[in-house]
Amino acid sequence: MPPRSLRSLDVAGRRVLVRVDFNVPLRDGKVSDDSRIAAALPTISYLMESRARVILCSHLGRPGGAVVEAERLAPVVQRLQELLGSEVAYARDCIGAEAQRAVAALGDGQVLMLENLRFHSGEEENAPEFTRELAALGEAFVNDAFGAAHRAHASIVGVTRYLPSAAGFLLEREVDALGRILSSQERPFAAVLGGAKVSDKIGVLENLLGKLDLLLVGGGMAATFLKAQGHEVGDSLVEEERIEFAGKILADASASGVRILLPEDVVVAREFSADSPTETVPALAVPSGWRIMDVGPQTVVRFREALQGCATVLWNGPMGVFEFPAFAQGTRELAQAIANLKDAVTVVGGGSTAEAVMELGLAPSMTHVSTGGGASLEFLEGRELPGVAALLAGGGAGA
Ligand code: 3PG
Repeated sequence: MPPRSLRSLDVAGRRVLVRVDFNVPLRDGKVSDDSRIAAALPTISYLMESRARVILCSHLGRPGGAVVEAERLAPVVQRLQELLGSEVAYARDCIGAEAQRAVAALGDGQVLMLENLRFHSGEEENAPEFTRELAALGEAFVNDAFGAAHRAHASIVGVTRYLPSAAGFLLEREVDALGRILSSQERPFAAVLGGAKVSDKIGVLENLLGKLDLLLVGGGMAATFLKAQGHEVGDSLVEEERIEFAGKILADASASGVRILLPEDVVVAREFSADSPTETVPALAVPSGWRIMDVGPQTVVRFREALQGCATVLWNGPMGVFEFPAFAQGTRELAQAIANLKDAVTVVGGGSTAEAVMELGLAPSMTHVSTGGGASLEFLEGRELPGVAALLAGGGAGA
């Protein structure tokens, strides 16, 4: 059962507390990637048009319960105003007299952004006093912060005990798209997994392997899989304690008929640095003193061919060290290959994979690009997200 929808809340003329995930990267005091802000606009615009008094709240960074000047939400307010094309009021605290004054000054259809929730330790502690104060600012609650739905914090879980609550449009879309992946009704179903470490993907591999037809493994984590097959991988990062797990995944895949592809060739470097000398070598012949930094061109061709005809594709984790241009080619080409799959449902997990897709301008060609990093991983691991569970549990009452 999906959580109660925002459309069923009576919001006209009422104070609606909206949890968003505006934990966005900042550079030189400006938002450098506004995709999380843009993703929340449908909910905010809907509430404005419905004449609600919109009270936005979010965390930014990890200030640990103290005011950190560099983690104020002022740059976010600036960007939000530009995107909305209308004024957004800004309270320099999320509870207390200043927040209450700013809420009281709000008119129907107007928007207020409260200051960083994590300036108060009560947010992460889900502390009753903080929760009550925050909830008292609103008459209804909307959670549109999918990226933070795996945190059992006051603004995500606590407030649903006090206010009639519903899911915002972004949270709804995320749960729907990632839920489609878990039910994997459209086959063949392929997962492309990358990133530095196998340990980050254990839960996803365990939860998804039985549903897959095809598994493509790239990124740094491929080294541990190659090692599990008994190959030498030079000085690549190998998670010794995960070799057995990688071996089990390979064995289970073969026993259950899941086709699994590892890199055939790799781009290697002498050092983990942007300007290290590089070579492209067969994956089974990584020389000692060199480490895997990207998948090679033959691997991209092979992965691209394997994905043809797939009906559902999940991609989570870059194919190489994408932040260094010399090792971004595999990720770029694979992103393009997935974007070209016009008849497939293509879902991109959040975090660095989403960043890569955004940077390449390929997001519009994907079915869904998640705004959640940790949250999308936990969802794909089959775990219940506290933010979603809270909406299902009690937050739907009243209003
Ligand atoms: C994220 O960026 O993944 C979310 O905003 C959650 O942030 P957190 O890991 O600091 O809780």
